[in-house]
Order: sequence, then C-alpha cells, then structure tokens
Amino acid sequence: MATQSLYRRYRPRRFSEVKGQEHVVRSLRNAVINHREGQAYMFSGPRGTGKTTSARILAKVLNCDNPQDGEPCCECPSCLAVERGTSYDVHELDAASNNGVEAMRDLIEKASLGTPGRHKVYILDEVHMLSKAAEAALLKTLEEPPPHVVFVLATTDPQKVSETIRSRTQHLQFHLLPMDVMEDHIRWLAGDAGIDLTDAALQSVLRQGGGSARDTVSALELVASGGGEPLEITPLDEFVEAFIEKDPGRALTVVAAAVQQGRDARTLAEDIVRHLRDCFLSLMAPELVQLPAQRAEEVTGLAQRLGAAAIVRSMERIGEILVEMRHAPDPRLLLEVALVQLTHEASSGDLSVVLERLDRLEHQIAAGAAAAPPARPAPVDPATGRALGGRARRAAARARRRAGPRACSGRWPCRGDAATGTGGVSGTGACTRSCGCARAGHVGG
Ligand SMILES: Nc1ncnc2c1ncn2[C@@H]1O[C@H](COP(=O)(O)OP(=O)(O)OP(=O)(O)O)[C@@H](O)[C@H]1O
Ligand SMILES: [Mg+2]
Ligand SMILES: [Zn+2]
Repeated sequence: MATQSLYRRYRPRRFSEVKGQEHVVRSLRNAVINHREGQAYMFSGPRGTGKTTSARILAKVLNCDNPQDGEPCCECPSCLAVERGTSYDVHELDAASNNGVEAMRDLIEKASLGTPGRHKVYILDEVHMLSKAAEAALLKTLEEPPPHVVFVLATTDPQKVSETIRSRTQHLQFHLLPMDVMEDHIRWLAGDAGIDLTDAALQSVLRQGGGSARDTVSALELVASGGGEPLEITPLDEFVEAFIEKDPGRALTVVAAAVQQGRDARTLAEDIVRHLRDCFLSLMAPELVQLPAQRAEEVTGLAQRLGAAAIVRSMERIGEILVEMRHAPDPRLLLEVALVQLTHEASSGDLSVVLERLDRLEHQIAAGAAAAPPARPAPVDPATGRALGGRARRAAARARRRAGPRACSGRWPCRGDAATGTGGVSGTGACTRSCGCARAGHVGG
C-alpha cells in the first residue's frame, strides 16, 4: 500500500467530490459563478467533515485560470500550486499553535500586500483557539479587509468564537455525513484503493468513524492493514447499561475483553468519559451532540434511562481516575475499582445517590401514566366474592405484611427490606441505609 495515508490521498479536489455537504457546496459554487464571493467565511462542524478541504477548493477556484461552473480546473499552474501547498495566494494558519497576537499582526501586515493571483485566501484553522488579543487584531481586519483578500475561519467549536467575529462572517455549517452517503463513499474508495472489504468489516468501519469522513477513512486503513478483518470495537454502551443495571460484572467483562485486544486502560477510560459526555449532552443540549442521527437517538435513550445525576457522577469519577492513572502502577485496577463503585449504588450512600434516585423517579413519572401499573382492585373476600370492608382490608394487609417478603417502602421510619433482611432503623433510630431506600430523611439518620 502507498505510504501516503488514505485520507490524504483521497482528499476531494473539487466541490463535487465533497460528500454530504451539498448545502455548503451549492452556496460556494453559486457565489463563485456569480462573482459574489464573500470576504469572510466561517466553516464550522465536527472534525474530519471537509472544512479545510472545502476552504482549499474555494481558494483554488478563486485563483483558477480556467474555472468551470464554479469548480476549479485542477490543471492550471495556480490550481496545482495550491494542491502542492506552494501557492503564494493561499495561506494556512493553525490558530491552535499560532494563537498569539504576533502571528495575527504578521498575517494582517502581509494581507494588504499584493499577490500574484486574483485573490489572497487566508485559511485560519481552529480559530476558536485564538487569544483575545489576536481575536481583536483579526476583528479589525475583518471589519475592513483589503479588497482582494478572502478569509476562511474554520472551527469545530463555533460557540467559542466571539459573537463580533461571527457576525462579520458568512457562517456555513458542516455536518456529520449521513450513513448511506458514507457507506457509498467507503465502498467506492475501498474499490479504488484495491481493498477487499467484507460487509462486517464495512459496518465496523462505519461505526468506528461515527460520521466523520476522516475518521472513517482512517478506520478503513486500519482494517486494510489488518488484512480486512472487522475492527474490534469496545461496546461503550455496555458500561452505561452496567451502571443502569447496577451490574459490576457486565462492566468488568468489557474491560477484560478490551484489554485482551490490546487496548490500554487509560484510552479506554477516556473513551468511556467521551461516551458519557455524549449521554450528558443528549439530555442537556442535544444540538451539541456530534453523532449520526440514529446513533444519537440510541445514546439519548441510554442517557434517559441512566439519568443526568448518575451520568455526571460517573463522568466525575472516571475523570478523577484519569488523573490518578498518570502515576498509577496498574491503571487497569483503578478503572475496575471505579467501575465497581459506580455500578454498586449501595456502597456510596452519599447525597448524589439520593439525587440520582430522585432524578430517575422523575423520569419514570415523566415517562407517563400510560406505563403506570393499573390501580390495585379492592381485596375480595374469597368466601363471599364481595369487596372487603375497612376492618377486613386492614386485617388482610396485616396478613400480607406477616407473609412477606416485602420491599422497603421508603417511608420513615424505615423498616428495611424484608426480602433481603437489610436496612431498617436500628436501636438508636438510625437507618443503616443498606436497604437502598435512600429517603432524604435517612441520610445521617
Ligand atoms: N465531506 C467529505 N467528503 C469526502 N471526504 C472527506 C470529507 N470530509 C473529510 N474528508 C476526508 O477527510 C480528510 C480530512 O478532511 P478535512 O481536513 O477537510 O477535515 P476538517 O473538517 O477540516 O477536519 P478538522 O476539524 O479536524 O480540521 C480529507 O482529506 C478527506 O479524505
Ligand atoms: Mg481542518
Ligand atoms: Zn485551475
């Protein structure tokens, strides 16, 4: 296989080759055809969806000797120079590493100088990383840009770009690629690159890529280097299920399988936190979740079942051990202990657990009366078949209580859980809380 990575080799050269961003492509091509291109664009969207690629195509067509229908010819000296990265008309600056005001001043000074082509295009990547001073300097130029200059500000995090900058740009939003578009693209690309791909391997590649074209192509490369075997993907949903079900075994099994496949505990912990963050966002700010639609729906379902408080507690706990792991001789052990704690509600009887239970109850109630159990009919006297009166009903209830087992009622004073024999108010009047009823009145008993 060629040494150049697949995602570089298959970088789209024309707008028509950029997949899944038709709205962006249409707008840019029309602007070019009508000579109404803007002077400042902001391209925002998830990583690896075509922002830098589209910025370069725009730079190419704006300087192309022979543009056709809003597309660059990709053959003239200017187009070839842009593709090789040697054009004097196109300047790329990574704001993540050049975030200071000096770099910005330098750029602005040069912006006003002449250029061999018709347009001088500045592509500022990760523009949300600019310092405040650098942002202020950029703002000045954006207010009155030299006539031949076009700025493309690219970012994965548009919320972090100041409103004043945003308001001076034409904002084009890139999206994760829809699964069917990505599937067609990967099938074509694999065929072109001579990679044999089974359906199972293709599905694992698509899942691993999560809608990002670059991540998907990188996953394909991994599969190709492994002889076309499907990628072993750690099922992160299993951790969330384990938290919901309070099932430590389930979480530990996934850790064991992942470690056996050569994953290290730290990156696994990072993946779990990232997944929990997606769960959290899907409850609090779904528009910020960067997942394909179907996957986002699955994650929202999981998040609703676990509840926001438990998600936050899990994120915090695993976040803590990520720090501890740096100096730990056995990071896997730390991860396993944290997972066991998080799956074992009774072992951490603090206020957060109470909040979690409240949160879950609220959700259950909000889930609707439709799911509520039917009202229990009045007890019937087996001898007469008639409904029992008040005194008889109380006697029947007493008999039921004697017969047990009965789950903790959650009422104070707690009588514990008759089924397990745990919890209840001890001689001193304090609930041991091991029944898990977690009534607020029990805390500190
Ligand atoms: N829309 C797309 N259609 C086809 N291929 C794409 C697309 N987006 C990205 N790619 C592939 O991913 C590679 C990287 O894309 P690009 O650099 O444009 O992503 P980006 O959005 O700028 O990502 P980042 O936010 O990480 O800078 C391209 O070389 C190409 O192989
Ligand atoms: Mg980029
Ligand atoms: Zn050209």
